[in-house]
Amino acid sequence: KKILLLNGPNLNLLGTREPELYGHTTLADVQAAFERTAAQLGYAAECLQSNWEGALIDKLHEYGRLQREGLALGCVFNPGAYTHTSVALHDAVKGVPQLPVIECHISNVHAREPFRQHSYLSPAAAGIVIGFGVEGYQIALEALVRKYGAGGA
Ligand code: DQA
Repeated sequence: KKILLLNGPNLNLLGTREPELYGHTTLADVQAAFERTAAQLGYAAECLQSNWEGALIDKLHEYGRLQREGLALGCVFNPGAYTHTSVALHDAVKGVPQLPVIECHISNVHAREPFRQHSYLSPAAAGIVIGFGVEGYQIALEALVRKYGAGGA
């Protein structure tokens, strides 16, 4: 079964983008670690980063179909700034209710500017991991598998 790691706008710049907030780990390193952990847990990770809202929506729809066919478990999703702006991404996650989507943020958005404190994604998310740096992707992956994987709670 597949697990999707989805990253939104500007996360391709991880490692060099505001490292005091987001750290020095690159997206390639995050994706490689996610693939390794997923494989250890018995899943095949697919990683997509896009700066385009529609590409993120298309991928969520695809995984909704794969989940129905028994071919996907769920998704870990850092929507970047679209978290705070995108009704379309909220609707996309609501549109595939069978697909558990864990919202993940590297930084503690609640300790930052007021405009980062509202998430359109959160009401549609199966769970949320915030503020653990890039480790959060691993935490979200393990939580997804523990709750929704074979033998999960
Ligand atoms: C982020 C937080 C967002 O507010 C910001 O726009 C990002 C990254 C995070 O991972 O902490 O791009 O989602």
